[in-house]
Amino acid sequence: MQSKDLRKHFFNFFHSKGHARVASSSLMPDDPSVLLTTAGMQQFKKYYTGELDALEDFGSQRTVSIQKCFRTSDIEEVGDKTHLTMFEMMGNFSFGPVGSDEPEDDGKEGYFKRAAIHAGYQFMTEILGINPDRMYVTVFGGDAETPFDEEAYAIWRDEIKMPEDKIRKGPREDNFWGPTGEEGPCGPCTEIYVDDVEVWNIVFNEFFKDKSGMYHKAERPGIDTGMGFERLSVMLEGVDNVFESEIFHPIMVKINEIAPTVDDTVKRVFADHLRASTFLIADGIVPANKEAGYVLRRLLRRVMAYQIKYDVHADLFAEMVPVVKEIFGEIYPEINDTKRILDVFEGERVKFHEAVARGMKEIEKFETISGKDAFYLYESFGLPFELILELAPQSATENLKKEEFDEYFEKHQEVSRAGAGSKFGGHGLILDTGELKAGNEEEMKKVIGFHTATHLLNWALRHEFGDEVHQMGSDINPERLRFDFSFPRKMTPEEIQKVENLVNDKIDANLPVYFEEMPKEDAEKLGAVAFFKHKYPSMVKVYSIGSEASGGVVSREFCGGPHVEYTGQIGSFKITKEEAVSAGVRRIRATIG
Ligand code: ALA
Repeated sequence: MQSKDLRKHFFNFFHSKGHARVASSSLMPDDPSVLLTTAGMQQFKKYYTGELDALEDFGSQRTVSIQKCFRTSDIEEVGDKTHLTMFEMMGNFSFGPVGSDEPEDDGKEGYFKRAAIHAGYQFMTEILGINPDRMYVTVFGGDAETPFDEEAYAIWRDEIKMPEDKIRKGPREDNFWGPTGEEGPCGPCTEIYVDDVEVWNIVFNEFFKDKSGMYHKAERPGIDTGMGFERLSVMLEGVDNVFESEIFHPIMVKINEIAPTVDDTVKRVFADHLRASTFLIADGIVPANKEAGYVLRRLLRRVMAYQIKYDVHADLFAEMVPVVKEIFGEIYPEINDTKRILDVFEGERVKFHEAVARGMKEIEKFETISGKDAFYLYESFGLPFELILELAPQSATENLKKEEFDEYFEKHQEVSRAGAGSKFGGHGLILDTGELKAGNEEEMKKVIGFHTATHLLNWALRHEFGDEVHQMGSDINPERLRFDFSFPRKMTPEEIQKVENLVNDKIDANLPVYFEEMPKEDAEKLGAVAFFKHKYPSMVKVYSIGSEASGGVVSREFCGGPHVEYTGQIGSFKITKEEAVSAGVRRIRATIG
């Protein structure tokens, strides 16, 4: 069976059982506590809890989808025959309340274990024609927290007539699913294996786990299933692995043309990472040092590092995007915007090559490189581990251990993950630095202008009131900036006017804005202004406004950027409000334009 037909059969089968077809959601999830979309159920979380009504939105309490997913846990494994970062998950869902759980029911009400197990088995055996002898299943065996799933066991044994030696009891790691993010629906699951490969995970959302880790019996039990589209395709096409399946074949053909001599492992990394990056960018993610943008950057930099290491000179991005589009463009129209996707690739390519040039110089300073040093080189210059090994003299990397590098890397990941909750929200972000967010080019210009204006405002307030004034918080969106600072009383109208004028004078002077990277102590010596709530690494970026040549440095702050190149790009600055936030803290709102 071709993968195109697999998609069709899956949708038709569940459609005939009352399920509404729902398109894949973006790889950038709605749920701010999750970095990327990892499962088909994510876009439906609010239907399980009853906050939203599926009957109203989809015309049925049952839906079916094939969802783009991305799992960061497998990034390092990519290169073998099975692991992928991005994959598609086929799933059928029921949101309850449970109406009929009869297997033959084709209505629009919620269903539960019986109908879900019967449907799964029927699809595998009758629609795909898989011989039951090739199958076995697992159910949750129970533990101290939640009990053995007797019900599911009995359905397999008594209704499906699965021999008992083929119904295995599994532990929580394998047979209990969810929730995604900090809280949500979850429950025991039953898995269907074919030829010893797990193909289908059928989750019974009986519980809701809250933020404190407590399980509550769900008010509306639901069904959430996930079947690996790629795994099933490999099985149905009878090929050896996913890179030989229709899903990847044209991509591999192209890579073989461009880089015939590199190892298969490297070819698979190219294939997976280029396909996944195309999809990530299509969903509005851009390379950054945090969160989803960081995942993308990691994929791209690994590809480019391998290109250097293995002497692959072709423009892989430009070569691969049209191939990916050819395979998936019809199903996922968002990837047809190839110009924008290629622009993002190109931007990162240029940055990476600059970083490599700078990193080379830095590497020369080390006699020996430790895991910590390697992480520093990675973090500050974007040099992937493999590339450091390649670029540094062998004598310097003799004792360099990947595990030590990984330790630092993991720590950093945890820190950026912790920040994800409050900062990530919207779809289609093209800029996300943590501090700044923008959904399109126009917004991006605006928020960057606001960012530099914030530095000027911080400077102007200290200029007017003295260095005891400290930033207490800052928030920027495409409409306005908001700046909180320590100050004991209301500002007078004259003072507000004065501060506004100070900022506008510096805008009119069209001063250059630029950054330097330096050790934290040097930045402190220079008097760069730090934000007390942040913990800074040992190497920091310092943004300055104004240079000696332009009449002196006006403002100097610890900051990751980005900023305008010249202050004139801000246009003009206007304070719209000055108010109290709490005792000793004032807030200014301002616009630019
Ligand atoms: N949400 C379940 C999974 O991802 C189906 O395995």
